[in-house]
Formats: sequence, C-alpha cells, structure tokens
Amino acid sequence: MDILLGLQWGDEGKGKVVDFLAPKYDLIARFQGGPNAGHTLHFENTKHVLHQIPSGIFREKLLNLIGNGVVLDPVIFNKEILALVNMGLDLQKRLVVSKKAQLILPTHRLLDAASEKAKGDKKIGSTLKGISPAYQDKIGRTGLRVGDILQTDFADKYAKIKEKHLAWLSFYQFPLQGTLSNGMNYDLEAMETDFFAAIESLKKLTLADSEYLVNSYLQQGKKVLAEGAQGSLLDIDFGSYPFVTSSNTTVAGACTGLGVAPKKVGEVFGILKAYSTRVGGGPFPTELADETGEKLRKIGNEFGATTGRARRCGWLDLPALKYAIMLNGVTQLFMMKADVLNSFEEIKICTHYKLPDGTLTEQMPFEITDVVIEPVYKTFKGWNCDLQNLKSFADLPPALAAYIAFVEESLDVPVTLFSYSPNRADTLMK
Ligand code: IMP
Repeated sequence: MDILLGLQWGDEGKGKVVDFLAPKYDLIARFQGGPNAGHTLHFENTKHVLHQIPSGIFREKLLNLIGNGVVLDPVIFNKEILALVNMGLDLQKRLVVSKKAQLILPTHRLLDAASEKAKGDKKIGSTLKGISPAYQDKIGRTGLRVGDILQTDFADKYAKIKEKHLAWLSFYQFPLQGTLSNGMNYDLEAMETDFFAAIESLKKLTLADSEYLVNSYLQQGKKVLAEGAQGSLLDIDFGSYPFVTSSNTTVAGACTGLGVAPKKVGEVFGILKAYSTRVGGGPFPTELADETGEKLRKIGNEFGATTGRARRCGWLDLPALKYAIMLNGVTQLFMMKADVLNSFEEIKICTHYKLPDGTLTEQMPFEITDVVIEPVYKTFKGWNCDLQNLKSFADLPPALAAYIAFVEESLDVPVTLFSYSPNRADTLMK
C-alpha cells in the first residue's frame, strides 16, 4: 500500500495528484478526517470539489473506499453522491464505505460551533463540520458507526446520544436554531430530518468490513493508494496542539484508519506546495502578513475549498517539512503550485528558526504556540517566466531547477512529481 499525504497544513493539492495517479491503482482509500477536507480536481474544463469521497472516483475500473478512520457526515455525503450520479457515475460499483466509519450527527455540528464560540479569541478556526465532537464520541466509545444504521435499534441509539449532546449544548447555552458564525442558518429539527433521509440513501451503498477488503486486495497483489486529508502539521499528536484537527493525519493514521499492517506500507508520497499556506488559527512561522502574502493568496487563489476562507500565506518552511518527513518516512516529494511564484523577483525559503533566546534550531519546538519564532531565510532569484507545455524536468527554467534542487538536498528526498497548474495534464513525473 502506498500512502499520499500532505506535509504542510493541508490544501497542498492532494485531490489533483490522487486523480492523476489513480490509473496506476486498483483501490483508493480515505483513512481519516471527514467533510472538513476539500479536494479539488480540474479536468475537461470543469472543477470538482470532493469532501469525503476519495479522489479516484472519476477514474473507471478502480474502487474507492471510505475507511474506518473517517468521520462521515451522511448529509454532505449524500449531496456529493447525487452530484456524481448526475454526472453518470455508477457509485454502487465504484464506492465502498466501511461499516466502522463513525457518523457525524447533526448535534456534533452544533457542539463544534458551541465549543468554538466558548473559546472566544482562542478559537481553533474549525471548519464547523462536527469533526472534533464526532472523534470525541469515537474515543469516548459512545459514537455511532455506519454499520449501526443497519441495526433495528439505530433510532434508539441515536436518541440516547442526542440526549447527552443536548445536555452539553444546554451547558454551552447554545440555541437549537439560529445562525452560526460562518453565516449558516440552522435548525436542529430540520437538520435531523435531512440526516435520517440521508441515512436511507447511505443504506443503498455498499457498506463493508473494509479491513478485509483492503487486505484481500493487498494479498492478491493489487495496488492500494491511501489518500490523506488535511496535512501532517495538523496532526492531533504532532501538529501545533491545540490548533490541529482531531485525527492522525500522519502515516500511522493510514494503518489504523484502514486496518493495514505497517509492514505493508510501500512508498510514502509527501506532497507540498512550493510555498506555505494555513487556514484557521495557530502558529505559522513563515506567514507573510504583508503585500507579498496578499500576492501569493491572489495568484494562488488561496481560499478554502470547504469554507471559502482566505488562507494565510508564507514562504516555504524547511524545519516544518523536515519534521513532517521524519514523522512520515517520506520516500518521494511531490511539489505543487510553483507556477504561483512565476512573477516573484525573489523567493525565500526558511532554513532555521531563531528562538527568543537567540538559539537557532531546525526542530519544531514544543513552545511553538506560545513563543514568537523568527524564521531565518535563504533568498533565491525568481525565474520570472510562465511555465507552459513542459515535457520533462529538463524543460524547467534554471532558477526553478535550482530552487527544487535546494529543497531536495535540504530534505534529502527526491522531488519526483511537479505540478504547474490545476489541470491534470500539467504534471511532470520522474
Ligand atoms: P476541524 O478539523 O474542522 O476541527 O478544524 C481544525 C483546524 O484544521 C482548523 O484550523 C481548520 O482550518 C484546519 N483544517 C481542517 N481541515 C482542513 C483541510 O482539509 N485543509 C486545511 N485546513 C484544514
């Protein structure tokens, strides 16, 4: 099983690359996260955004799996399904959902909003999709799983957990109808009606003990690609806690999120943008809160695929990337969006962090959320030209080739895939 995951704070371009690589695989599997993800694909002049469905769904002759490590919102899922069915895709054949995936309930979404509101200016900047409350119920051993919808006592189980959630919402003094901070109007009763309708649709899909499915694929020598969501620096254990998501976005999450033994892991593809972005709160040492950051945001169209929020932008951060590569055992780097830097005279890369006491480090300090870290930069000359119709790495302008070579040398991992536009076709591979 190969694994593809983001090495930064998410939004690295995983959707495009998974769709590009998919023809080499028999199964594409999501292993963590949920509708907080937004994987964008461009082909045949159309943009597609997937939230919970794996990015191999547009390719024929392969199976897509939503693994046990995922938290699934049936309502958002149903909307995604309908859009794909309208395009003529046969999802009965192409998609399987693990019976052990956890369900996001309507009350999880309200609890997410209530908890964020209670944090005031310390808020995480959650996507408000109910991710954290759903994973809390999973770890608290009270969650509902996809397989539960096939049981006769599902409504009773739902009522029981809802009762607990209502008590919490009342603790937060959070109303059951109103408007969320992101402008979304909500009404719990209406949300529940949608939820139970979506559950009926979910029952019509293939629900499976997917750990058996993945392992039998691997046993037969078929090729499996695990598709990460969010990014390594948002990992619940290793990200800048508490400004993280609620799952293991790093490589081990693929093993637990699919039921595959570590010894079956082959290549680990680490995907990075040629600069950095982050959406939501939390430390971001190389952030550019100036016109250069604004230029990156504008040219890179750095607005969230899920929430539409403006992403924070900054230069490439080697200490952060080294950390992510170490945690994941990355074997190949995929570099995305260098074309966004085409018109920059100078481009910087952070090589070290300077701590408040003057010490230089290449490590991510525990105190990263509490102290101001000064990035130490190396400056590169820009390539100042468009990137079009590239046929191979040899066609890259010398200044860009030097930029990539520096990244490879510093991170000690080769860049084997280079993407220079959102389109499927504009991708080079070594
Ligand atoms: P949550 O996962 O919605 O609880 O959000 C926790 C943090 O992770 C927030 O800062 C979000 O902006 C960020 N986040 C969650 N999902 C994504 C993603 O797919 N891409 C980028 N950031 C994300």
